[in-house]
Amino acid sequence: MNVLVAYATRHGSTAGIAERIAEVLRTAGLAAEAHPVDEVRDLTPYDAVVLGGAAYMFHWLKDATAFARRHRAELADRPVWLFSSGPLGTDRVDEEGHDVLEAARPKEFDELTGLLHPRGEQVFFGAFDPEAPPIGLGERLVGHLPAAKDATPAGDFRDWEAIDAWAAMIATALTAGQEEARS
Ligand SMILES: Cc1cc2nc3c(=O)[nH]c(=O)nc-3n(C[C@H](O)[C@H](O)[C@H](O)COP(=O)(O)O)c2cc1C
Repeated sequence: MNVLVAYATRHGSTAGIAERIAEVLRTAGLAAEAHPVDEVRDLTPYDAVVLGGAAYMFHWLKDATAFARRHRAELADRPVWLFSSGPLGTDRVDEEGHDVLEAARPKEFDELTGLLHPRGEQVFFGAFDPEAPPIGLGERLVGHLPAAKDATPAGDFRDWEAIDAWAAMIATALTAGQEEARS
């Protein structure tokens, strides 16, 4: 069982989540590699795919969505899981009483659920370093808005326990599939 963990990142924190998921899958005895989406041309070598991307301005990074659309036939043919990394801070519930992770579900997930029929999806807390140079015009402009400071608290909020648990659940699903195929 060869698993691809493909990811789209702007500042690197989603790459860290993808690498960690691949590591947990390997520890569980699966072959797993994490690669940026733009380095993956062919899904033939992979039996299952975990696809992740960072969320910016309520949208999944374009490269992740484009990858999902481009490979929709191969992905729909394989077990697929989706994840998004985004919310910053330690609050689990926002001021309106909404679950922060649910509220951060990228807008593209409805469409992709219809296209790929993923086995599961998850939103993880992200990370933000205000000292990192902004990437793209949008980030440069948003960085100057006073409201942006409140919306993007600085820090690494990635929840490694939640990431490990989700990856372990995927490993269990895939190894159970292997057992079924053998018997
Ligand atoms: C300008 C800006 C806009 C953002 N917009 C969102 C958003 O709409 N939803 C969300 O959940 N996170 C948002 N975030 C947080 C990022 O998704 C988070 O920092 C993520 O971990 C970045 O991943 P990366 O390091 O892989 O690029 C935003 C961050 C910045 C700097």
